[in-house]
Amino acid sequence: MAQRTREPQKSDGSPEHYRPVRSFVLRAGRLTDGQKRALEELWPLYGIAGGTDAVEFDVLFGNDHPVILEIGFGNGDATWQMARNEPGLNFLGVEVHKPGVGHLLLKIEEYEISNLRIACEDAVELLRQRITSHSLSGVRIYFPDPWPKKRHHKRRIIQPPFVRLLAEKMKPSAILHLATDWAPYAEHMLDVMQCSPAFENLAAAGGRVPRPEWRPQTKYEKRGERLGHEVYDLVFRRRPETERGE
Ligand SMILES: C[S@@+](CC[C@H](N)C(=O)[O-])C[C@H]1O[C@@H](n2cnc3c(N)ncnc32)[C@H](O)[C@@H]1O
Repeated sequence: MAQRTREPQKSDGSPEHYRPVRSFVLRAGRLTDGQKRALEELWPLYGIAGGTDAVEFDVLFGNDHPVILEIGFGNGDATWQMARNEPGLNFLGVEVHKPGVGHLLLKIEEYEISNLRIACEDAVELLRQRITSHSLSGVRIYFPDPWPKKRHHKRRIIQPPFVRLLAEKMKPSAILHLATDWAPYAEHMLDVMQCSPAFENLAAAGGRVPRPEWRPQTKYEKRGERLGHEVYDLVFRRRPETERGE
């Protein structure tokens, strides 16, 4: 999450410069030979070239099917399964971790998946600069980094400015699906979402929904399961402007 915070000030009190607070740390993960080949050969076919140009979904996918953005797909094992299971939708996955991107490219090749494309950049910048307003039919964010230490809470991707950004980019009635195995983060997500007039919680009592059977288990979810963590699925609908009295 590229929120701006103040760096140390100059001795005259004027701001020196601003440093973005990001929701991720770029780890120098080792690429397997297969992932290296995928990044060389498959990226040009399924990856979105960097830059700041607007992403034109109909050109990217060759059709006008609804587009679902998945943020922080990790190794992409849930992503390719969703794309296979929901062929009437287009999926755009965004992840900064290169080995995960390579892994997902190999799955696209293995299963000949045609409705999935990948961006390898900060999702916040992608949304801000390259995604057209009211163009997304859904956003899925599964097991985002919980940043458990209090001093790191500002790095959690679910924050009010980020939710406002999502609201701007999502179509009316589009669905935002969040999942986490970190109970305090689930509470934080609910607090942030409750303060957004743009979203309505679809759980009857305003909390979580039962785990949808269609959602494939992710790598981090399996890890949480091994640690005995409970999983929270939170589902919100993007309210049309009229419902918000605008
Ligand atoms: C805890 S992992 C979860 C991965 C996957 N969703 C899963 O459940 O297995 C969170 C992932 O989000 C990615 N991530 C965090 N912030 C991001 C951002 N702003 N843009 C793109 N990816 C991001 C990280 O690189 C990391 O791979």
